Amino acid sequence: MAENLIIEGVSKEEKYQTLLPQAHALIQGETDLIAALANLSSALATTFGWLWTGFYLVKGEQLVLGPFQGPIACTRIPFGRGVCGAAWQQNRTLAVEDVDAFPGHIACSSSARSEIVVPIRDAAGAVVAVLDVDSAELASFDATDIDYLQKIVQPLGQLFPA
Ligand code: SME
Repeated sequence: MAENLIIEGVSKEEKYQTLLPQAHALIQGETDLIAALANLSSALATTFGWLWTGFYLVKGEQLVLGPFQGPIACTRIPFGRGVCGAAWQQNRTLAVEDVDAFPGHIACSSSARSEIVVPIRDAAGAVVAVLDVDSAELASFDATDIDYLQKIVQPLGQLFPA
């Protein structure tokens, strides 16, 4: 496994293009779920410098905090609550331009202004975890982030027990 990420390009899309194969190599090179999530949260956070980048894992009726980069965060989120719980409930990616305008948003950090949550699915299509990214700026996430973040997390589903 490579010991350093090599991120090239200036635009967000160029950075994602160089990150995508390296992110998949990190996932494919490791069978342990927590190890893969930990390195992937670091790869995303160091590439883009977001406020908070990490994972919540489905455990029963809650999302429980997993590997992340950033300030301490809420450890448990009920089904349907906040942006993370809503993305789980709706089984779809949610990009929120202004978290203060999102009903039920859970403010783990008062600095968060926008957010994207991407579901991770097992082979049967059930949500087993979410990738959550918070930005300190409004409207940080658009169709490019949705497209690439979905592609980046896609192989993670295979690491969850069936
Ligand atoms: N803001 C999130 C909660 C998780 S933290 O921001 C890390 C939400 O509403 O789902």
